[in-house]
Amino acid sequence: MRAVLRDAYGGPEVLRVGEVATPRPGPGEVLVRVRASSLNTADLDQLRGLPRIARVEGVRRPRSPHMGLDVAGEVEEVGSGVRDLERGDRVWADLFSHGHAALADYVRVPADASSRIPDGVSFVDAATVPHSGLLALQGLRAAAPFRAGTRVLINGAGGCVGPFAIQLAVSRGAHVTGVDSADKADLMRAAGAHEVIDYVTEDVTRSGKRYDVVLDIADTRGILAMRRCLKRGGRYSLIARRLGSFARYVLAGPLVGRLTGTRMGTILWKPNRRAYLDEFVALLAAGEVRPLIDSTWALDDAVTAFEHLASGRARGKVVVVP
Ligand SMILES: NC(=O)c1ccc[n+]([C@@H]2O[C@H](COP(=O)([O-])OP(=O)(O)OC[C@H]3O[C@@H](n4cnc5c(N)ncnc54)[C@H](OP(=O)(O)O)[C@@H]3O)[C@@H](O)[C@H]2O)c1
Repeated sequence: MRAVLRDAYGGPEVLRVGEVATPRPGPGEVLVRVRASSLNTADLDQLRGLPRIARVEGVRRPRSPHMGLDVAGEVEEVGSGVRDLERGDRVWADLFSHGHAALADYVRVPADASSRIPDGVSFVDAATVPHSGLLALQGLRAAAPFRAGTRVLINGAGGCVGPFAIQLAVSRGAHVTGVDSADKADLMRAAGAHEVIDYVTEDVTRSGKRYDVVLDIADTRGILAMRRCLKRGGRYSLIARRLGSFARYVLAGPLVGRLTGTRMGTILWKPNRRAYLDEFVALLAAGEVRPLIDSTWALDDAVTAFEHLASGRARGKVVVVP
């Protein structure tokens, strides 16, 4: 079968599409025939081995040559012990903690990390959701509760995770402001943002505006600066890009929160489990979450797809179809 492969950390130039043996499912796994995959910033982190935390699976060189987090496809073969999935089932999964080998014709997936794609949702649309959608869900959950009219600021709202976070917050009745560069304003508005701020021309931490909830995906500012965006009683949730900021929020977040009457924390990534993705089923069916796609590429052109994402020109998800 074909697979996107690499032997070293680096830019898209270290990638190639090559031939490898088709895997067989182990106990508790299914073999999925990949119909679509999508790229995430976390794929770029794993490709580059940066930040250093992305080298958990190989400090000097990647232990696995494979790439790819998001998978949508059909079950081709069922491993021993799997009772609830069968050949032909349409499934999706985030393989961030499960071998990240989705950019291929076939991939082995733990059965308990995969769930059924909702009826009427295409493989291409489904493939955009798992990794970035689950990050958005986990980030917003950490800042709960939401009520109609809750004022939410999403910092870094125009990347892979942001449009899902905007849609999830809007679906809960929030009034959402997205912060990103001006050329991502249309994408943020398409996701449902009520207001957008250009981080290049406006420092939101100095604007004097206060929010009930801040979801920080950009991870570009310090804890005291971000605290200025919160009302008293407000909640801040960080999806940390760097280990340093994760540690800072774990250590200093509770203290800053207590002193300022806010809640300031960071999410601890939870490996994908079936129940998380199932939360998207009703949202997709109701049209409350709508995948926003930048472009679709053939598997043979996956290296160019990575170059496109790495260039910063993507506006929405970049999809790869075997
Ligand atoms: N903590 C965890 O457990 C965990 C787990 C998995 C992944 N992650 C990380 O979580 C992040 C997921 O986000 P993503 O995929 O949506 O990233 P992304 O696609 O890079 O989006 C981040 C956005 O923030 C914008 N931005 C840059 N500087 C900004 C600033 N000063 N103010 C506001 N916005 C700014 C970027 O715009 P420009 O294009 O202009 O730079 C970009 O559009 C990734 O970094 C990933 O590595 C964390």
